[in-house]
Amino acid sequence: MPIIVVDKLTKEYQRLKRTAGLAGSIRSLFSREYETILAVNDVSFHVEEGEVVGYIGANGAGKSSTIKMLVGILVPTSGLITVRGLVPHENRIENAKKMGVVFGQRTQLWWDIPVSESLNLMRHMFKIPEKRFNENIALFGNILDLREFIDTPVRQLSLGQRMRADICAALLHNPDILYLDEPTIGLDVVAKERIREFIKSVNRARGTTVILTTHDMSDIEKLCSRVMVIDKGSIVYDGQLQQLKEKYGTEETLTIETDGGSINDKDLYKLGIQDVNRQGNRYIFRYDKRKVNSSSLIQFVLEHCQIRDFDVQQAEIEEVIRRLYLSMADHRQG
Ligand SMILES: Nc1ncnc2c1ncn2[C@@H]1O[C@H](COP(=O)(O)OP(=O)(O)OP(=O)(O)O)[C@@H](O)[C@H]1O
Ligand SMILES: [Mg+2]
Repeated sequence: MPIIVVDKLTKEYQRLKRTAGLAGSIRSLFSREYETILAVNDVSFHVEEGEVVGYIGANGAGKSSTIKMLVGILVPTSGLITVRGLVPHENRIENAKKMGVVFGQRTQLWWDIPVSESLNLMRHMFKIPEKRFNENIALFGNILDLREFIDTPVRQLSLGQRMRADICAALLHNPDILYLDEPTIGLDVVAKERIREFIKSVNRARGTTVILTTHDMSDIEKLCSRVMVIDKGSIVYDGQLQQLKEKYGTEETLTIETDGGSINDKDLYKLGIQDVNRQGNRYIFRYDKRKVNSSSLIQFVLEHCQIRDFDVQQAEIEEVIRRLYLSMADHRQG
């Protein structure tokens, strides 16, 4: 049984239409015209217990709207969500007991009181047994290093500290689902890495199911085997990250260092190489790995030069996603 079932989920927002200029502003004072925004459009998916799913897409694609409906703070326009058999917005409290959520853009903690008091309030709200609470504070506090700012009001925390406090708060009641909406936004590389490690360890140790939205493809690469891509409200890809890479990450780069000698560019293009960049004795070849085999390319170079060193690089995940987004844009135009 999947832990989360989403079936034909749709969310529309009504937004006040604003017309440009003074005349427009005056007009909208008298007649309020609304426009409909289709933020989530007929989305269906299942999530199995213990999965870590990356939910990605451009700005405004509908990621946060989906998360808010899963959490139960937003009511779907149509379609059905069940989390462990319950409809989140109809069973908000029941649902909240079993899930944790972090919105990277906005803290869930109380702004003016120390972190420790916020966590204590959570303890009462969720009726967390004292023993479990203390164990979790000790464990998370340690891994997330909360001690240095546990007595500081949230408003005085740096973004990275605040995010750690939020993540700790989301996990205090041992939820079995964790929703993370941009948990690494604005953090430095060290802080990002730390949060990724933490999420990974929670998933491994407790089997917590994780759904994560992000614009940082390293988050996806480090944490998720499955990704769902949403574009203008619709899911356009749902599958293994590896397969996505195979489909859109067909570009390979081979860097070769030679001991002199020279290669004729024309011969290279005949082999199917798309681009050659030569810097002294160093060649950088770019090609489609479905058309060119790196070992036959090396073989070819060896016929003309001595090779001192070489390195083959696959397309970066950023590149894979960039291509996917581009192909979606082409698709829409075509
Ligand atoms: N409360 C709201 N009222 C009206 N429109 C909204 C509201 N919230 C979101 N939208 C619109 O719905 C669409 C989807 O927004 P959403 O926040 O779900 O996107 P997102 O994928 O999370 O984007 P981002 O990557 O920028 O966080 C956007 O066009 C947005 O402007
Ligand atoms: Mg968002």
